[in-house]
Amino acid sequence: MNQPLQHFLRFNDLDPQTIEHIFARTRIIKDRFKRYERYMPLQDRTLVMIFEKASTRTRLSFEAGMHQLGGAAIYLNTRDTQLGRGEPVEDAAQVISRMCDLVMIRTFEQEIIERFAANSRVPVINGLTNEYHPCQILADIMTFIEHRGSIRGKTVAWIGDSNNVCNTWLQAAELLDFQVHVSTPPGYEVEPERAGLYGSGHFEQFTDPMEAARGAHLVTTDVWTSMGFEAENDARRKAFADWQVDAEMMSVAARDAVFMHCLPAHRGEEVAAEVIDGPQSVVWDEAENRLHVQKALMETLLLGKVNT
Ligand code: CP
Ligand code: NVA
Repeated sequence: MNQPLQHFLRFNDLDPQTIEHIFARTRIIKDRFKRYERYMPLQDRTLVMIFEKASTRTRLSFEAGMHQLGGAAIYLNTRDTQLGRGEPVEDAAQVISRMCDLVMIRTFEQEIIERFAANSRVPVINGLTNEYHPCQILADIMTFIEHRGSIRGKTVAWIGDSNNVCNTWLQAAELLDFQVHVSTPPGYEVEPERAGLYGSGHFEQFTDPMEAARGAHLVTTDVWTSMGFEAENDARRKAFADWQVDAEMMSVAARDAVFMHCLPAHRGEEVAAEVIDGPQSVVWDEAENRLHVQKALMETLLLGKVNT
C-alpha cells in the first residue's frame, strides 16, 4: 500500500497526533530493540542519505536504524557525487527519488531541501539545515517524556545561539503546547519568521540568561558557532562568553530540571563540564533516542500509522 507523500522538513510539517503516534511507536520499537527482537517492516526499502555537512549521530542513527528495520541505507556526499559539481537540485531529486523509497538530507539553506522535496517522488526528511533540525527535537522531547513525563505546560530554557535547534524547539512548543524561554546575546535574537512560528505566544526572550533558566524544567544549549558559520567564530566567542550553562545557572532552574545538548559539545564554551558530565545531564539518552525516534519516523512516513 502506498502512503500519501509526507515530508518532514520542519517540525510542524507533522500534526500533533502524528508526533504523538511517533512517540508511542518509539517506545514499542525501542523496547523490541532492547529485547533483541527482530522488527523488520522496511525490508526491500532503501534510504538515501545526502550529507553536505559533517555528521556522526545523524548518519549513524539513520544508517543503523534503516538496517535494523530490514532496509538498506546509501550514503552520498557532495564531495564525490555530481551534487557538488552544480547539478541542479531539482534534477538530482528527480533521479534519486526514482531509485529509493526515502531520502534524508543534511544541507545549508532550508530552501535547498524544500526544492528537493518539491521534485521528489518519495518522502524527504530534514537531517539538519541552517534553519531547522526536526529529528533532533523529536529525540529531545522523547527523552524528556522518558525522564519526566509529558512536556505539555512545561518550560524549556534555551541559552545561546538562536540557531536551527533553537528554531525547532520553538516550532515544537507551538505544536505541543509548552513554553520556551530564550536568552541570546544582543544581535543573535530569534527571528520569528525564520523560525517558522505561527506567533502563538509560546516563547519569551530574555536578555539575562539566568532569568531564562529560572524555574525551567529543561535547560538546553548548543554550540556558539554552527556548521556553515565558521567565519564568525572569533566574533561569536566574544559575544557568547556570558552564555554558558554552568552549575550556578542550573541551580536557578527547577530542582529536578534536566540538561540536554544535541552534541557535539564544547566543554568550557556553551556548557561547563560540571553540567554536561553532571547528574542532571541526559545527553547520552538524548543521543541514543535519535536512533529510536527516527526508526518510528521512517516507519510512519513509509507505512502510515502502524499499530502492530
Ligand atoms: N546532533 C547531531 O545532529 O549530531 P551530528 O552532527 O553528529 O549528526
Ligand atoms: N547547531 C549545530 C547543530 C549540530 C548538530 C550546527 O548546525 O552545527
